Amino acid sequence: MSNTILALGAESVIFKTRRWNQFFVLKWRKTKPYLLEEIDTLLRKTRTSKECRTLTIARELGVRTPAVYSVDLNNYSILMDFIEGTQFKLLVERLDQKQLLELCQRFGQSIAQLHQGGVVHGDPTTSNVIVDKHFHLWLIDFGLSEMNATVEMKGVDLHLIRRALETTHWDKQELMLNATIEGYIDTIGKEAEDSLSRMNEIRERGRYH
Ligand SMILES: Nc1ncnc2c1ncn2[C@@H]1O[C@H](COP(=O)(O)OP(=O)(O)O)[C@@H](O)[C@H]1O
Ligand SMILES: [Mg+2]
Repeated sequence: MSNTILALGAESVIFKTRRWNQFFVLKWRKTKPYLLEEIDTLLRKTRTSKECRTLTIARELGVRTPAVYSVDLNNYSILMDFIEGTQFKLLVERLDQKQLLELCQRFGQSIAQLHQGGVVHGDPTTSNVIVDKHFHLWLIDFGLSEMNATVEMKGVDLHLIRRALETTHWDKQELMLNATIEGYIDTIGKEAEDSLSRMNEIRERGRYH
């Protein structure tokens, strides 16, 4: 068994590991020394269990996610499929406009599939999307996800997409947001209006506070 570190996040360490002649990812939520121990333990545990649960629910809803093989709530770790591909975030600058808009539409469709199933992602940034060689999108990083989502929660999820595009892809934000919304409406239809107008409302609220 060989382990290499794939990514070092603020919250977690992502190992790529080889078992049974296949590659897997072990996501381990590390301790945050500046938090009170009880809070640290609680956060790591709830986020690990939420992530594990939602990875599976999302797949049932038709969204591509890595399959979970095991979860260790005492060690705050999840063993899942390794998805061969590139972070969407890194691809944005390399794609032509047509490809980029296509991927944004698919991103919007995936978020819509989650929302239709009552799930919000919680951290819907372009770093949490992997694009594989077939141009398929895979969603990851579900530690902040919630179920039984209300219109407000869906509006927040969409607002977070807008914010992420503003900060990470500011020169293409409008284009990308419009295509994402197109994909969202494409999947949900008329009912998308509620969450979309809530997204705009949330932005207006932020402006006057
Ligand atoms: N299952 C996976 N397959 C391939 N790469 C992954 C996988 N899970 C995570 N990664 C890589 O590690 C990075 C960080 O993982 P993520 O789950 O987003 O953790 P964090 O909570 O630290 O952001 C991702 O952006 C991605 O590049
Ligand atoms: Mg992430």
